[in-house]
Amino acid sequence: MNIGFVGAGKVGCSIAKLLAQREKCVSGFYSRSHSSAMEAAEFVGTTAFDDINQLLEVSDVLFLTVPDGAVATVYRSLNPNLLVDKIICHCSGALSTAVFEGIEKWGASAFSVHPFVAISSRYESYQYLPNSIFTLEGKGARPEHKEAMLALLRDLDLRVEEISGDAKVAYHGAAVMASNLMLGLLSVAKRELVAAGFSEEGAEAAILSLAKGNLGNALNAKEQPFVTALTGPIQRGDAATVAGHLQAFSGDTREIYRLLSKEVLQLARAKNSTLDDIEIVKLLYEEES
Ligand SMILES: NC(=O)c1ccc[n+]([C@@H]2O[C@H](COP(=O)([O-])OP(=O)(O)OC[C@H]3O[C@@H](n4cnc5c(N)ncnc54)[C@H](OP(=O)(O)O)[C@@H]3O)[C@@H](O)[C@H]2O)c1
Repeated sequence: MNIGFVGAGKVGCSIAKLLAQREKCVSGFYSRSHSSAMEAAEFVGTTAFDDINQLLEVSDVLFLTVPDGAVATVYRSLNPNLLVDKIICHCSGALSTAVFEGIEKWGASAFSVHPFVAISSRYESYQYLPNSIFTLEGKGARPEHKEAMLALLRDLDLRVEEISGDAKVAYHGAAVMASNLMLGLLSVAKRELVAAGFSEEGAEAAILSLAKGNLGNALNAKEQPFVTALTGPIQRGDAATVAGHLQAFSGDTREIYRLLSKEVLQLARAKNSTLDDIEIVKLLYEEES
């Protein structure tokens, strides 16, 4: 199976390098700028193409690892006569295979193959991909195409979750919450520490150490990681402390604290079924009633 890449960026280089390492055949790279394609080809040990359809012709699977906004345009630039029996993939989290409009009529299969992992480097990130989760969505013009994709991903030691196209936008929103929005939350907490007198660097170090400890506790938990790792005033039923925090914060920070505390209350109840939470409920829900 020959696997080609359109888009010689972080994701293209990382997946292609991992494939090459596992002795899969990477047919080559095409990219917007030929210099990117050449650099990626050298890194992976394959060929740089200056014609996208020549790459399609020699590939059984073609990954469009371009920015989300370019996937549809790049797909439309593929010669339909060369699509028969091919597998065309993109790696977007938010887009489904609906972006590959009419692909069935050309006898090709379409998949979105989304790495549920932050890929920050063209040349380093491939090392961290094994054991990470990749989400597969899409359908095959032939059933064996899906089997081939599942087998390929598993050969790379990736953990595959399957998902339906309709669920992709909400799925991607959830991924953003666990990655980008988590950084946003830590940034709010840092600002409050600085306001409390910490230096910028001191606040960053303190926040990262606390967050790392919490994630470590969740990772080490044998079951229910979020419930097991939970500490703090809500799970202790300490309404006076929660009231103090709500008084100390204002504006968006207060609202973020209040809304996330409602979710934490659910975790606290799962941890302690006899939790006395009447006062905490009043504090967290007062503005909504
Ligand atoms: N990075 C992540 O953490 C991550 C995680 C999950 C999913 N994804 C998804 O993976 C896909 C690629 O993301 P990325 O992070 O690898 O982006 P990236 O590093 O910016 O790379 C995109 C590459 O596509 C090339 N390109 C742009 N427009 C093109 C066009 N019209 N024709 C051909 N090549 C074009 C760029 O070209 P030149 O270099 O030639 O200028 C660049 O090499 C996106 O769908 C993204 O949502 C990314």
